[in-house]
Amino acid sequence: MDRRKVVKTLGISAALLITGLISACKGGDDKSKKEIQELRDSLKETANKSKSERDKKIVNRTEMNFQDSENPTDFELKHTPKIKLGSKDELSFTEVKITVGTGIIHPTKVDHWIDFIKLYADDNLVGDVEFEAGKASGYSVFKIKTEGVHKLKAVIGCNLHGIWHSEIELS
Ligand SMILES: [Fe+2]
Repeated sequence: MDRRKVVKTLGISAALLITGLISACKGGDDKSKKEIQELRDSLKETANKSKSERDKKIVNRTEMNFQDSENPTDFELKHTPKIKLGSKDELSFTEVKITVGTGIIHPTKVDHWIDFIKLYADDNLVGDVEFEAGKASGYSVFKIKTEGVHKLKAVIGCNLHGIWHSEIELS
């Protein structure tokens, strides 16, 4: 084999080897990327599935009000958040307990439950709790700073019967 043929053959072999290596590396990267993407998709799907199972049951987000504030019905009372102030701790946080239902406690079932409680101090959100269907009752205790706050508002959501609220004035 003459020198020119040897150089040409070596050149072609080197080119093929480099192309093969690049392809192998690319293939490896693609494979890793694909595996990572599949893992991401799977995690996302799992998260969405568990979230959507809960969310699927939340069918009413209507803002509700008493039809007649002088004569609330049992249905309305059952969905009214009750705000109770507790004592102030050594760091000056005041306990604020929220339950749902006045006289009649709202049920906690797999298909009917209080799905969230939010607490506002002068229209600023200071606490937000979500509950799993049937596993946690609509009840929450917050500890908040009340200095300079004039009003507390509790907002709750019933998955079937909408969003209800109540307020108290602070002296
Ligand atoms: Fe309800």
